[in-house]
Amino acid sequence: MVRGDFGGGRGAPRGRGGPPRGGPRGGRGGPRGGRGGPRGMKGGSKVLIEPHRFPGIFIARGNEDSLVTKSFAPGESVYQEKRIPVQVGEDKIEYRVWNPYRSKIAAAILGGIDQIWIQPGAKVLYLGAASGTTVSHVSDIVGPEGAVYAVEFSHRSGRDLVNMAKRRTNVIPIVDDARHPMRYRMLVPMVDVIFADVAQRDQARILAHNAQHFVKNGGHFVISIKANCIDSTVEPSVVFEREIETLKEMGFAPKEMLTLEPYEVDHAVVAGEYKPFE
Ligand SMILES: C[S@@+](CC[C@H](N)C(=O)[O-])C[C@H]1O[C@@H](n2cnc3c(N)ncnc32)[C@H](O)[C@@H]1O
Repeated sequence: MVRGDFGGGRGAPRGRGGPPRGGPRGGRGGPRGGRGGPRGMKGGSKVLIEPHRFPGIFIARGNEDSLVTKSFAPGESVYQEKRIPVQVGEDKIEYRVWNPYRSKIAAAILGGIDQIWIQPGAKVLYLGAASGTTVSHVSDIVGPEGAVYAVEFSHRSGRDLVNMAKRRTNVIPIVDDARHPMRYRMLVPMVDVIFADVAQRDQARILAHNAQHFVKNGGHFVISIKANCIDSTVEPSVVFEREIETLKEMGFAPKEMLTLEPYEVDHAVVAGEYKPFE
């Protein structure tokens, strides 16, 4: 995994490729709550649940540690993910294992991304929802006070997305083309964070077009970049640098970038602030 941090807002990137920081087992992406940290809860027979440094996200410590979210809809798997029931006093709650091979946000968290801004109570506009695998975890994280506006243009995936949203009342499925945000402007309020995973050549433009409508100055963005969807004739690192420049021209202030190995090859996530006016 390679990281780059961009200090000075929209100035030149101070990218620095380097060794991985964090990973599935500890490091910055890993669990917190060791010595003096919050005590975990016992889940199942041999699993201990501890809070991750990102609010709303947890680590299940067992034979193998895994990233988990607290289910908004206990009793239900969305993509046959493993569920971990936990008894807390009278209450039975459930955590769902979040597979970083199936979700770029999970991969970025385990890779040690500094911030994702997706947290309890947040309103998130999610472009490229597919059948809702990652959206379901975002729904868990933002919880009943938050909302996920999930846009997907494939009708086939959209059907699964709509089904998933039936018990997840904080998910608003929008089966439409993210290139036309005006079509769903009545459904989406101003949001705190916009996340894009559309795997399209013009994805920066799609992100910007939606941000113009739905993200306030100073809101945040996260975008997943699949290099060969944009240009398969140059090195992925060149594609990532170019995308970062394009994002800057469109009013975004990228703060960090990290590539997603070992979970995805030739993919990066870029995150930062939306600052069309300075
Ligand atoms: C890489 S997949 C997303 C995977 C998903 N984010 C997840 O983690 O489960 C990209 C998705 O974006 C959708 N997509 C591509 N272009 C789109 C557009 N213009 N509007 C809405 N959805 C789009 C595709 O149909 C596909 O389902």
